[in-house]
Amino acid sequence: MAPEEQISLFGSLEPSISPASSAVPAHFDPALIPTSAKVPIPVGTYGSIDEMVPHCTTCHRCELGQSRINSVIGRGNPQAPILVIGEGPGQNEDETGLPFVGRAGQLLEKILASVKLSAEQDVYLCNIVKCRPPGNRTPTADESDACKPYVLEQIRLVNPKIILLTGATAVRGLTGDKRGITKIRGQWIDWQGYLCMPILHPAYLLRNPSKEPNSPKWLMWQDIKAIRVKLDELTA
Ligand code: URA
Repeated sequence: MAPEEQISLFGSLEPSISPASSAVPAHFDPALIPTSAKVPIPVGTYGSIDEMVPHCTTCHRCELGQSRINSVIGRGNPQAPILVIGEGPGQNEDETGLPFVGRAGQLLEKILASVKLSAEQDVYLCNIVKCRPPGNRTPTADESDACKPYVLEQIRLVNPKIILLTGATAVRGLTGDKRGITKIRGQWIDWQGYLCMPILHPAYLLRNPSKEPNSPKWLMWQDIKAIRVKLDELTA
């Protein structure tokens, strides 16, 4: 079926992702989804993150599907109170099919562990785009838009208390806010009823190892402590 015909089947769907919402039309055929980014993926398409796997692994909604080894969907606890959204898979992630397993991911795990948050229990990790941009370039706006329905479904399904957006690309991809990450890191924002905090990208910390006051690592330490305090408040 041509993309135009598929679009007319689905119409335009509001991307409101409240956990209770389901916008899946009765005539919806999920088998059509991966073929064109013009075909919306309705909210409520997937009953679990596992159900997304066959679509993501065959997805060609953007050109990243042509060069990937693996699509990288997520890891951690799908019922976690914290959802971390990164920029996109790198080489290690592409090879393993798992997000945040390279050096930046290992540093992120250490940062989480410093306030007793475990990547297996307390956190679910994913990215704005599910396939590696060649040469680790920043994903384009079109690529991130094509992948966004998957991220929205992950947010709806995990239904976290807190969303952490690592780096400017994750912030822009989810919220559309184009401000630099150093301007907005550490600030709580409300996005569609979800409490989110933009934080520095761990790869940026790897390039800036100083721990002096106001250095990137020091700022991250302030942010992760604030995140721990907020989580404790929310779960008290
Ligand atoms: N690994 C990921 O999966 N995402 C990032 O943003 C960085 C490293």
